Amino acid sequence: MRRNLVVGNWKMHGDIHSNQVLLSALINGLNNYQNADYVVCVPNPYLHQTRTLLENTNIAWGGQNVNQFEEGAFTGAVSPHMLTDLGCTFVILGHSERRVLFHETNLSAAARFDASIKANLTPILCVGETLAEHDAGLTEVIVASQMDAVMATLSDDDFARAMHLNMVFAYEPVWAVGTGKTATPEQAQEVHHFIRQRIARRNAEAAALVRIVYGGSVKASNAAQLFNMPDVDGGLVGGASLDADEFIAICKAAN
Ligand code: 13P
Repeated sequence: MRRNLVVGNWKMHGDIHSNQVLLSALINGLNNYQNADYVVCVPNPYLHQTRTLLENTNIAWGGQNVNQFEEGAFTGAVSPHMLTDLGCTFVILGHSERRVLFHETNLSAAARFDASIKANLTPILCVGETLAEHDAGLTEVIVASQMDAVMATLSDDDFARAMHLNMVFAYEPVWAVGTGKTATPEQAQEVHHFIRQRIARRNAEAAALVRIVYGGSVKASNAAQLFNMPDVDGGLVGGASLDADEFIAICKAAN
């Protein structure tokens, strides 16, 4: 059985004081909920603080992106080793905000994915269509192209390594990110099933094990219905991950 996973993506929010308050509330609130996995992906400057607070708790932490190179003259970039050095076990890749606002491509997502698994970071690869693509009936075409761009670059050894690290896919329809519009549980299920089938073309066993989380206006009020769908294995949560009560309620729905 797949364990549900809830990932909070803080995006560019927080400061030392508010992080301390939020993380302390999460530690207390989730302490007794051991049947799902929880992760917070915080801004890089706060990874050290996060590690100090979350070490020896049931909440893991990760980065929101990573560079594909190990080191060098890449001003502003952060390497996979820098994340693992700070205790990160997860990293979000290919988020729609990175694709749209920072012009990252499928190719760069593939390179970052490869670098992440080589550094023992579990990648959370985001895929999802824009509203125009959704309305044009292109959801599966877009999701398939985003997945294939990464999967095609993985050798069998890399694929095995990614499975060993429990790689995660996140379906985040761009029209649902930060808009308050959530995909219906049925819409999410349909795409999650498609994603799982696509992985099965490469490896059926892996497809059964891989976790596919949903992102896009997940809240305490809709989490349980989404997570009840057979191919929805939890959530990638933006805005609601900044509110301790909301995030804890979402995590409990996954538990
Ligand atoms: P919201 O939950 O704010 O819609 O953001 C979703 C998201 O982008 C998570 O990565």
